[in-house]
Amino acid sequence: MVKPIRDTDGPRHVAIIMDGNGRWATQRGRPRLFGHHAGARRVREVVEVCPDIGVKYLTIFAFSTENWKRTQVEVAGLMSLFRRYITREARALKEENVRVRFIGDRVRLDAKLVQLMDELEQLTSGCDGVNLTIALNYGGRDEVARATQRLAQDVAAGRLRPEDVNEETLPRYLDTHVLPDPDLVIRTSGEARISNFLLWQSAYAEYEFVDTLWPDFSAAELTRLVQGYGRRERRYGAVPA
Ligand code: IPE
Ligand code: IPE
Ligand code: MG
Repeated sequence: MVKPIRDTDGPRHVAIIMDGNGRWATQRGRPRLFGHHAGARRVREVVEVCPDIGVKYLTIFAFSTENWKRTQVEVAGLMSLFRRYITREARALKEENVRVRFIGDRVRLDAKLVQLMDELEQLTSGCDGVNLTIALNYGGRDEVARATQRLAQDVAAGRLRPEDVNEETLPRYLDTHVLPDPDLVIRTSGEARISNFLLWQSAYAEYEFVDTLWPDFSAAELTRLVQGYGRRERRYGAVPA
């Protein structure tokens, strides 16, 4: 069933750093990839609750530009997991009216995975429920560097004047150009750092760091965090009225 998105004062765009899969597996005496598989299974429940709690945009960090530093076994296992995830979930995502987009640099990803990503974006391009953005081979600095390169090309070609480079024009070159900025950024697993996620976009986001390891995260916990957000006052540098 396709659920309508409710209007609330809560965050319209929630971004999640899904961390702690490795520790979750280690605690159970299992290989790290076991944790990644368990983590991938949590995504569906979290996406599905979004319409009920007024979240129109959900962005999840799946693989960072720094994660290539992991062992070849873990990286290959993750890439295979992404391919399987897309293949397995594509139909359900479309049925749930979820519009899927990917951000990050595709150049380093294998051709088969990029093809599946393109197909899923295409398949769900007419969906107007939750906007799910998956950050895969994503790094905030890498994104800004790639954006700046394209911006510089436009300047060199005379399509953009240097004096027109500003806070409105620069983000048009970011991977996230069609998305609003995140209102709430959540990181699981007890680490209180950004790890290169949505650096430009989160300049005024609220942050929640929770101890839950990602494979234990639930729709109920997301609901609680979203409700807590509604009680915060965002000032954007101004003095409260
Ligand atoms: C997050 O879990 C998933 C990815 C980074 C791909 P981790 O794999 O970082 O899990 P921990 O932090 O080692 O527990
Ligand atoms: C951030 O987690 C990246 C993802 C969740 C995909 P990491 O586990 O890679 O971050 P660090 O290494 O602890 O900063
Ligand atoms: Mg981690």
